[in-house]
Amino acid sequence: MVKIIYVEDNGQTHVVDVPRGASLMEGARDNGIPGIEADCGGACSCATCHAFVDPSWVDRLPAKQPMEADMLDFAHEADPIRSRLTCQIKANEGLEGLILHIPERQA
Ligand code: FES
Repeated sequence: MVKIIYVEDNGQTHVVDVPRGASLMEGARDNGIPGIEADCGGACSCATCHAFVDPSWVDRLPAKQPMEADMLDFAHEADPIRSRLTCQIKANEGLEGLILHIPERQA
């Protein structure tokens, strides 16, 4: 399990143990974290699993693939540096303690 910290727009914080290999979207969805809608179920085709990576973590995540970067154009108020699609990042030991800020609303 990998501890991931999801912070809602209102500041409510959820510390969740996400199974290694599961996506950060699945970690949110399967634990009832509000604000990650994931309409496409993780197929990188909806942008409703958008979250802002905490600045302290931006450089520690795997780089975006072109498909994720393209899809982020459809995310609400996406930030070129901090925005990621949580369905495209898998939990692993290196992400222990990762902080994700959930946007006010999705697309
Ligand atoms: Fe649809 Fe991530 S769940 S793009």
